Amino acid sequence: MKIAVLGGDGFCGWPTSLHLSNLGHEIHIIDNLSRRWIDTELGVQSLTPMDSIQERCRIWKETSGEQIHFHLIDLAKEYYRLRDWLSENRPDAVIHFAEQRAAPYSMISDRHKIYTVDNNINATHNLLVAMVETGLDAHLVHLGTMGVYGYSTVGAPIPEGYLDVSIDTPGGSKGMEILYPTRPGSVYHMTKSLDQILFQFYAQNDGVRVTDLHQGIVWGTNTDQTKRHPQLVNRFDYDGDYGTVLNRFLAQAAIDYPLTVHGTGGQTRAFIHIQDTVRCIELALKDAPAKGERVKIFNQMTETHRVRDLAELVAKMTGARIAYLPNPRKEAPENELIVKNDNFLGLGLDPITLQEGLLEEVVEIAKKFAHRVDRKRVPCVSAWTRDLASRVERDPEGKRLKSVS
Ligand SMILES: NC(=O)c1ccc[n+]([C@@H]2O[C@H](COP(=O)([O-])OP(=O)(O)OC[C@H]3O[C@@H](n4cnc5c(N)ncnc54)[C@H](O)[C@@H]3O)[C@@H](O)[C@H]2O)c1
Repeated sequence: MKIAVLGGDGFCGWPTSLHLSNLGHEIHIIDNLSRRWIDTELGVQSLTPMDSIQERCRIWKETSGEQIHFHLIDLAKEYYRLRDWLSENRPDAVIHFAEQRAAPYSMISDRHKIYTVDNNINATHNLLVAMVETGLDAHLVHLGTMGVYGYSTVGAPIPEGYLDVSIDTPGGSKGMEILYPTRPGSVYHMTKSLDQILFQFYAQNDGVRVTDLHQGIVWGTNTDQTKRHPQLVNRFDYDGDYGTVLNRFLAQAAIDYPLTVHGTGGQTRAFIHIQDTVRCIELALKDAPAKGERVKIFNQMTETHRVRDLAELVAKMTGARIAYLPNPRKEAPENELIVKNDNFLGLGLDPITLQEGLLEEVVEIAKKFAHRVDRKRVPCVSAWTRDLASRVERDPEGKRLKSVS
């Protein structure tokens, strides 16, 4: 297949591009490299040294013999270039990773809120309009997040996208299928919730074929292909804005920094290893909806864990100390999370779960590049409200270590 990977320079997009190229697909990465600019804005860098996207593609060609093409296009701002590219190249599938994806970054200030909404909503909407305008019947696979559901539960598992409800009408009770209600907990999650409505509209109005993958928190860094050459290494975010919880704990342990648990660490989250991310996308591509079919929604996660349990696991494995800090997020201090993931299991996914070997591999990588860490960038200081901002712990290594009891 000819596949456009939008956001293919990112943490999930790069290993996905390699994985699909390795399977023989013709890969075209479209990216505006905004994440590299955000690194500069925040004064951080990936823990692993990433080469330019052009250099990465050159090394992949040398290593595998396969060509990955790169196109510099801003989906949110360059609608006509995107439309013309799709019209000329007519990919069979489009994988859409190209959004601002950090909840803390989306809450830093009014500017970051506005940027996240402008970027994410325009990117998704421009893509859908361009597909309709060019008559492109490609399968659109989008990366959404489990976080749209807000981590509250009534005790029943979160289904894969849809909920059957019965509504009282004057003529009696009637059944209806609705999108499972979202309850976004940040501006970033709000944009992902809005994306769902855009997909629903264009699938129903124009027959766009969409699969929306509600992904859990991705952990790990290497995949079978990124391991093939040091310069194919994947991005690794350790900082308080972009680093995701388990990778952050592993990096913190590697540099002898306290594991930064927010509140009691009672938050339960869904997880997936990066190797399973790329495999899930391969499986989703093989299971495209038919024209006119409703949006397919899959929960792309393999297991759930409580944050404090993860911290305890990493502390036991590495001897790291845990710091319980005031939570900068507005969220339930404790939650249960039960999630259905039957769709991917039905398609043949054999989940990778938290194995010590894989956890240790991440610690080893983090130790190797520990000299690249700026310790001041480790704590999460982006607060969800002004009130919470006054309580943020900016220096968990300091003597003033606060404890939440
Ligand atoms: N990483 C996770 O744990 C995780 C979890 C759940 C869902 N997701 C979703 O997966 C997708 C990819 O996440 P990631 O971790 O790879 O993020 P990332 O920030 O590493 O990569 C995103 C890529 O998209 C590009 N991009 C952003 N806006 C763009 C635009 N307007 N035009 C062109 N390119 C643009 C960036 O330059 C970057 O290379 C995101 O949509 C995210 O919401 C990620």
